[in-house]
Amino acid sequence: MIFKQLFDDATWTYTYLIADPKTKEAVFIDPVNTHVDDYLKLLDDDELTLKYSLETHVHADHITAGGLLRQKTGAQTAVSSLCGAETADIQIEDGDVFEFADGEKIKVISTAGHTAGSISFLWRDRLFSGDSLFIGGCGRTDFQGGSAGDLYDAITQRLFTLPDDTLVYPGHDYQGRWVSNIHQERTNNPRLSGKSREEFIEIMENLNLPNPKLIDEAVPANRYCGLDEDECQDAMVRRDLKLPKRNMGTAADKVAAAKQQITEVTVEIAKQLIAEGNINVVDVREGGEYEAGHIEDAILLPRGVLEFKVGGVVQLADKSGAILVYCRTGGRSALAAQTLQDLGYNNVLSVAGGFEAWS
Ligand SMILES: [Fe+2]
Repeated sequence: MIFKQLFDDATWTYTYLIADPKTKEAVFIDPVNTHVDDYLKLLDDDELTLKYSLETHVHADHITAGGLLRQKTGAQTAVSSLCGAETADIQIEDGDVFEFADGEKIKVISTAGHTAGSISFLWRDRLFSGDSLFIGGCGRTDFQGGSAGDLYDAITQRLFTLPDDTLVYPGHDYQGRWVSNIHQERTNNPRLSGKSREEFIEIMENLNLPNPKLIDEAVPANRYCGLDEDECQDAMVRRDLKLPKRNMGTAADKVAAAKQQITEVTVEIAKQLIAEGNINVVDVREGGEYEAGHIEDAILLPRGVLEFKVGGVVQLADKSGAILVYCRTGGRSALAAQTLQDLGYNNVLSVAGGFEAWS
């Protein structure tokens, strides 16, 4: 088998490539978007076909290459169903097994705690522990639904019960270490070895770490496999998507369903409503798109963080007030309008055709 441990030195992230030289099938774990050309070259060099691009979780410190790899190779992207990344092809559940090549199996072990949807992968004698278990450490548990208690339970009950000589390949290492094993972590990991659940929680609650630099950009992008949501939808629609197991519906299906439940208005009507006043305009694109041009006075609330941030916007405190939502082409804003309706806003309109039609 081909096994490569790749490193992104900007974010200290490890990416793994597993491939079979005979059947030519390959799998990436936690690819980073800035290295997509390197990955394509690696695949090309050995004439490999990428079957899956797997994520251990929705990362806060880097953007995944999953969506780009899907676009360029036709691979399926997969992330835990608990991550809110509904455009991934496969919504992973605990215990799932990814089969590739000639009987190779990658088993999913739920290791929630770093984030609510964090998982680890076990292939042969190798554990890919993402940001759950690090060499001599573990992932932080203070955002994205993290829980120190859950992480302690997952590591001690699910990972430390694996055979002692299972190799541990982490999602990051900040000191240049590559690999460890279960015995070493169980007996030497300073955060966990000999520590009670309470002691571990106490340690984790007092780390006082700053937020990762990329969190506001990376988390929303990673929910769309590292792409802009419209791009992600276009790619999925273009590709003749076979129905994956446990799929929650393609992005295009979801937009179509949302459009049944919300009210769309044309650009002409939107302009009229804005001219009349008494309506708040919300731009649900990403910050970079907003900066490149937006409707005057529009409030920026990217769709990926809408649920978390809308409550803090003073202008939107009155849920009966009229809101006009737009994105680039009208897909994301349909989903955002539906989300706002679900949150109790009862006068939400979405601009058909989005900012492209507006411009
Ligand atoms: Fe992480």
